[in-house]
Amino acid sequence: MNQKKKVTAVFDNLAWDGSWEKLYKGRIDRTTYNFMSRFRAVEELLGSCVEGEILDVGCGTGDLLPLIIQKTGNYYGVDISSKMIERANVRFADAIKKNVASFHIADCDMLPFNDMKFNLAIAVGLIEYLPDPSLFLKEVRRILVNDGYFLVTVPYKECINLKIRKGLLPIIQKLYPVYAKFKNQSLSQMTNVRHYSYNENDLDNSMKAINFHRVDACYTNFHIIPHPIDHLFPELYIKISESIDRGRKGIKFKKFASNYIALFQKKPMDGSERIN
Ligand SMILES: C[S@@+](CC[C@H](N)C(=O)[O-])C[C@H]1O[C@@H](n2cnc3c(N)ncnc32)[C@H](O)[C@@H]1O
Repeated sequence: MNQKKKVTAVFDNLAWDGSWEKLYKGRIDRTTYNFMSRFRAVEELLGSCVEGEILDVGCGTGDLLPLIIQKTGNYYGVDISSKMIERANVRFADAIKKNVASFHIADCDMLPFNDMKFNLAIAVGLIEYLPDPSLFLKEVRRILVNDGYFLVTVPYKECINLKIRKGLLPIIQKLYPVYAKFKNQSLSQMTNVRHYSYNENDLDNSMKAINFHRVDACYTNFHIIPHPIDHLFPELYIKISESIDRGRKGIKFKKFASNYIALFQKKPMDGSERIN
């Protein structure tokens, strides 16, 4: 099975059994903290960019929608998983009825929208599943207006914890399905798909190639207590991460951050280029 089919199958399952939307609700633990802190940072980074036509690519069950429609934007969500879209349509039926939101099944490499339709595009937790994100990024350039914004989140390649996890991967792959079954964690399916990580230069270079410049960036979810010791002290790990998060976008502690979040702006092809 190729990566796209594997990813679709995993997310179809996560939507179907309701486990994706649960990540944004209820008690904060090691897993949900990652999503909660990323969501908060996305909201802060977007600030005043949320207006006009907004596209959420890889929208999942639409969990970012409340963040958009409480402001002035008109929301479009697309996802390759039909089950994610099915679930989003049920959850946000009211917003759909009011014509402020719609959901569509689509591959991010072929977005079913006209050129320059959107003021803002968001890809939260998407490009880590794409073996080659260049087709998607070209689509982002095509569907955004000039000066439009693109917010993207990625697993941060320089994170020490990520390196430790990669080193322990062969052991985790043997143990984790057993552990996850015992703990009833549906996210264990994620071990079936490849995840690609990025650093600041990787992203900047990819975006520069399509004539975007970085406007702002931040880091979230700081693993000062590394894996697997964090499993023993989940509350302490969250407490420390929270105290770093209240600092200046986490730059000083970025080597411990599992997420990197950046906001880019599209320049016209003939415009002068400026990289921050
Ligand atoms: C980690 S989830 C993130 C969901 C949502 N953005 C959130 O933050 O809750 C990644 C989503 O990207 C979708 N996805 C993966 N590959 C895709 C592709 N090629 N085109 C469109 N969506 C894709 C998956 O189906 C999944 O719903």
